[in-house]
Amino acid sequence: MADEKDTQTDAKDTQSNGKGRVAGVIEKVKEQIRPKLNQDLEGLRQPQKTQLYKSIFRVKHEETPRSRSLSVLSNVFLHLHPARINRDAVRYSYTWGMGGITFYLFVVLTFTGVLLMFYYHPTKIQAFRDILYLEHDVPYGKLLRNMHRWGAHLMVLTVWLHMFRVFLTGSYKKPREFNWCVGVILLVLTLLLSFTGYLLPDDQLGFWAVTVGTNMARATPLLGSEGPLGPQLGMTAYNDVRFALLGGSIVDSNALLRAYIWHCIGIPVIASTFMIVHFWRVRKDGGISGPSPVMLAKEIKPERP
Ligand code: HEM
Repeated sequence: MADEKDTQTDAKDTQSNGKGRVAGVIEKVKEQIRPKLNQDLEGLRQPQKTQLYKSIFRVKHEETPRSRSLSVLSNVFLHLHPARINRDAVRYSYTWGMGGITFYLFVVLTFTGVLLMFYYHPTKIQAFRDILYLEHDVPYGKLLRNMHRWGAHLMVLTVWLHMFRVFLTGSYKKPREFNWCVGVILLVLTLLLSFTGYLLPDDQLGFWAVTVGTNMARATPLLGSEGPLGPQLGMTAYNDVRFALLGGSIVDSNALLRAYIWHCIGIPVIASTFMIVHFWRVRKDGGISGPSPVMLAKEIKPERP
């Protein structure tokens, strides 16, 4: 009998101990998240003081001679080249030069693309014939076309490698969060440039690639005729996002014209604008991130007495 009572008391003790421990843990977690919660609340009250705001918009500094000279030195238009750079940050082994190579390829693609435009008509009758003409009759036409095609493949590769290096070096962290997001947009634009260019030769490869690619758009949530909630919102094959992309319900002359305009005007103009913002932000974020500067022994100045 006594044993039974002891067991019951033990069980009660364990239960209350368990409850106490849970309460203790909850209290500890609360203590840990309280500063973050307070910070978030403060952010809601004064959004201009948050890191998110500071990473997107320019912040006003106090009026001192130092901040005035800094605002001149860090101004991209007044000082196209940065006044100071971190020597280790511009090493090829750090950046792989991938951002620069991506930009260089974009310039080459713009130049060769404009030259190709002199020979290409975006119509079902002419498009493929123009490609054959370029390949076999136009002087240096084959070279021109292949520079554009291989340059495009390379640009897709280098933009991925650039993103990979930025990720590996942790350069997406404070204060570069905003530039990382601009970069993501640039990546999407690069892929869209590649995709729209695919249809232009109007060959079997491009035709089927774009057929498959745009068929996927049917499954877009809300905007696709076969996507989640699409049919409920009245989406059909004749008014959904795929229809808007193709200018019809099949890949035909309207799709070719749309791909041409997006490829030659729309996306390059948008991408150039984002590239300007991207480069400007690299300067504003204090230059390329880089490891902390290493000094040669001879560069270290002796301490003043
Ligand atoms: C058309 C595409 C792009 C071009 C032309 C471009 C160009 C550049 C260049 C020239 C730099 C200077 C440093 C370097 O060369 O590595 C740079 C830095 C940077 N890029 Fe890009 N970029 C592109 C796409 C992207 C993408 C896809 C991301 C990431 C999603 C990205 C994120 C960044 C960031 C965070 C920096 C600063 C890195 C640091 O300070 O170390 N960029 N970009």
